[in-house]
Amino acid sequence: MCGIIAYTGRQQAAPILIEALKTLEYRGYDSAGIAVAAEKGMNTAKVAGRVEALASSVKKRDVRGTTGIGHTRWATHGGVTDRNAHPHVSTDGSMAIVHNGIVENYLELKAGLVARGYRFASDTDSEVIVHMMDGFMKDGDNLETALRKTARMIRGAAAIVALATDDPGKVVGLRLGNAGGLVCGFGDGQNLLASDLLALLPHTNRVAYLESGEVAIATRTGLSFIDLEGRAVNKQEIVVERTREAAARGKFPHFMAKEIAEQPQAATACLRQRIDFERGRIELPELKLTAGEVRKLRQVVLIGMGTSLHAAMAGAHAIEAIARIPARAENASEFRYREPVIGPETLVVAVTQSGETADTLAAMDEARRRSARQFAVTEVDGSQATRIADATLLLRAGQEIGVASTKTMTCSMVVLTLLALYLGRLRGELAPDRERAAVEQLAALPRLLSAMTELEDGYRTLAERIKSTDHLLYLGRGPLFPLALEGALKMKEIAYIHAEGYPAGEMKHGFIALISDRVPTIVLAPRNGLYEKMLSNVNEVKARGGEVIAILTEGDEGIAKIVDHALYVPDAPELIQPMLSLVPMQLLAYHVAVGLNRDPDKPRNLAKTVTVE
Ligand code: M6R
Repeated sequence: MCGIIAYTGRQQAAPILIEALKTLEYRGYDSAGIAVAAEKGMNTAKVAGRVEALASSVKKRDVRGTTGIGHTRWATHGGVTDRNAHPHVSTDGSMAIVHNGIVENYLELKAGLVARGYRFASDTDSEVIVHMMDGFMKDGDNLETALRKTARMIRGAAAIVALATDDPGKVVGLRLGNAGGLVCGFGDGQNLLASDLLALLPHTNRVAYLESGEVAIATRTGLSFIDLEGRAVNKQEIVVERTREAAARGKFPHFMAKEIAEQPQAATACLRQRIDFERGRIELPELKLTAGEVRKLRQVVLIGMGTSLHAAMAGAHAIEAIARIPARAENASEFRYREPVIGPETLVVAVTQSGETADTLAAMDEARRRSARQFAVTEVDGSQATRIADATLLLRAGQEIGVASTKTMTCSMVVLTLLALYLGRLRGELAPDRERAAVEQLAALPRLLSAMTELEDGYRTLAERIKSTDHLLYLGRGPLFPLALEGALKMKEIAYIHAEGYPAGEMKHGFIALISDRVPTIVLAPRNGLYEKMLSNVNEVKARGGEVIAILTEGDEGIAKIVDHALYVPDAPELIQPMLSLVPMQLLAYHVAVGLNRDPDKPRNLAKTVTVE
């Protein structure tokens, strides 16, 4: 949550900060602001709303200066208002800070500051930081010492950057715990700090990542690093290969529509070089796993949040079924607080598109403390998850701009299926002919996905019908139960319609009381071993006057006859059914959201990357 950028160099800072904030906006879009240090004091502009609104406001005034900081906010403490927007500025206007994270002890700190005469201009927890730093600077400290001393007094994970007119030409940044991190960019005659590599790429590809407890000091001529005691820290400059991908929607009305349509290419990229067609084998050399190590594994625990948790649930199903290792998926925020029984013979697989989700990172820290072996499944090379994990499986989906995860879930499920097959072979559970068959099935996935992402008209018509409903029930079984959860999540987050995902067998144990002609049920029932069980569920809903929308295999002549609407997926083996069944969940939610005039790319109250607990 929250995007941070800082710049110091020869150029005017404001346009650079605004451009970077546009890149960072997916991290939060409640408000945006910049502060630029000028000879006569701090020039600040901040507005509730999107970066576009900030850009218009900056155009109307003179925000000149070559050192500045900027922020896009996802509100935690204090409403969405101009005054709660960052940067927060000291009372005399000499210093400004932006913050990502939560100052957990802010009430206590604020009381102390108020007693010392500080006046607060916002309702945020973050504002204590600027007044504390201001106090240290008034006592004679330089900017970095003021930040270090403040850091030692606050509790909670944080990323902070600051600048002061009394210490000109300098920006400082700090990372404490896992609040989304800070990347430092080495430029020529300019240096930058940002919460996301992407914001730096227009300026440099030479970077260093701050670790918790490290402070970066950037001036026009250099970047240096110290720890919280003020001791110098040596950091290696990393040259990143990644270039900035043009975040263009092209012919699509929304990024979400584009990203749904990109799933065939995303799946192809994800499979590339991981399938050896000649030998009919899966190869994941990046894991550096031996057969002996896999045989010793006692369990696989997959962790994640939101959509990534749903992908993890589908992955756990595949790992247990194929590799015959006990596997389960856990909500990372619960896992970290419940003394999990894991150790060196546990494999933890963290699924996180961004690689920066605070709860997932904290769960990974917990797993590391307990000596579990860990893999990260993520889109972002260099993200914090990749730095905690022993090895990484990259999704290769390409940057996902829409807040609702789509193509990254498909790729997470593909990667986890590859992992299941790979573990199966190394453990001696997967015979060569079964592996060869699985390779062929996976290779067909991009083509089958293409056929689905083109079939949009039926969804538009159905969306028109559903959009006036207040509640929806999604039912699935086995590997398709996580898809029911995901379908409900998509509908809630972008269409704002209440929806619940249930294991189909559980329906009779409670939810059935709510079935009526006003609660449509979406049933995932492609042809597989559980088809007849799903048929019974459909009959139970119909018997109570419920309307049923079924996701069925093309050519279905059973369930199709008794449901109110059918959406079809191609006839495909069970191994790839979860990836194919995901597409109708996405398209339906997308068309309902658009039909209701909601912005599916920036749903209310959400942010793409959740870097606070
Ligand atoms: O970056 P992550 O995959 O760790 O994010 C976890 C969730 O916040 C995320 O999957 C969220 O649920 C989706 N964007 C919702 O569509």
